[in-house]
Amino acid sequence: MLTAFVPRETHPGETRVAATPDTVARLIKAGFAVTVESGAGSGSLIDDQAYRDAGAKIVPDASAGYADADLVLKYHPPTPEEVKMMKEGSLLISFLYPTRNLELVKSLQARRITALAMDCMPRITRAQKMDALSSQANISGYKAVILAADHLPKIFPMMTTPAGTIKPAHVVILGAGVAGLQAIATAKRLGAVVEVSDVRPAVKEQVQSLGGKYIEVPLDEDAADIEDKDGYAKEQSEEFLARQRALVKERIEQADVVITTAAIPGKPAPKLVTEDMVKNMRDGSVIVDLAVETGGNCELSEAGEVVVKHGVTIVGLRNVPGLVPVNASEMYAKNVLNLISDMIDREGNFRVDLEDEAVGGCTVLHEGKIHHPATAEALGEKGGE
Ligand code: NAI
Repeated sequence: MLTAFVPRETHPGETRVAATPDTVARLIKAGFAVTVESGAGSGSLIDDQAYRDAGAKIVPDASAGYADADLVLKYHPPTPEEVKMMKEGSLLISFLYPTRNLELVKSLQARRITALAMDCMPRITRAQKMDALSSQANISGYKAVILAADHLPKIFPMMTTPAGTIKPAHVVILGAGVAGLQAIATAKRLGAVVEVSDVRPAVKEQVQSLGGKYIEVPLDEDAADIEDKDGYAKEQSEEFLARQRALVKERIEQADVVITTAAIPGKPAPKLVTEDMVKNMRDGSVIVDLAVETGGNCELSEAGEVVVKHGVTIVGLRNVPGLVPVNASEMYAKNVLNLISDMIDREGNFRVDLEDEAVGGCTVLHEGKIHHPATAEALGEKGGE
């Protein structure tokens, strides 16, 4: 019987956990033994007893769990100490960002680990149930609006009362991927007027179907390939960004709230909100910058901080999904469970099928060998296995 281990996340301030009592029970039903490090769920308000009730064995510390684990289920990439504790030849499911963490990849390689990176899951329809980037971005988009509403000295909805009519809040959202679309839906539900800018033409219809107004920025003449083969935005020309800044400037300066989520995979976040724009915003207005981890979309954002500059509150908190740990863990744990379920064949055997588009796509290392073209390239090697 294979043993799956769920350690306590050691990343500072992390509240999430890679399994819930529900997913533990399902793993056990699928034939795994599950061990959980004591306190692993406390940040998500899950106590050891709840895991025990689901059938897990609680171990007092990480080393005891890693020693017997065939599968390690966690959120953050393992630290060097955690890699050392992993059993040689075991399987890891976590975020890895392998092309940025080459030393980690090499240390996993040395221990012949099979490593599946949740951040490398192909963005295809079949893999949506295992897509942790999306599940966490959805929560970020929701929470960004709630954070903005909390900091704003105004309400969001229009209110017609005997004491007068209150105008709805004006929200501008820059970047309408998964987080941005959820932010639009949430801001609309709270009654705001929402305007949106993105670079991918496909987004316009999605924005409009959620009740948002799309700010049209004319594309560069040679912008036929604005998206890469995975549907991600490519880096835009400086001319495009200047045109976009000119168009959104006025909208931003009229806004009560600006939520930014714009990202280009593997590149620094585009700077869309300049200090000048912030200076011209009304006192008390709020910017929530969800791109702080990659440098921020606003020139004045400070990663990990809430700051007030030129009278504007700029929320640059890291790990926004971790502020909603109950649902963030619930969804992440389901993504992990769905990935594991996908690896169980008809006869009930667990195996890593590299031919499977989802499983093969997120397998960075298979028994210590690189199986991820971008990682191989970053390591200066050729091809996969
Ligand atoms: P992301 O986090 O990489 O980027 C967020 C948004 O920023 C994107 O919409 C991008 O177009 C936008 N952006 C980039 N530069 C910008 C600029 N200068 N101004 C304004 N916006 C800018 O994207 P996310 O949310 O991870 O989604 C990536 C892609 O994957 C999207 O096309 C999404 O629809 C697709 N997807 C597909 C799924 C599927 O199963 N078919 C599941 C999830 C996502």
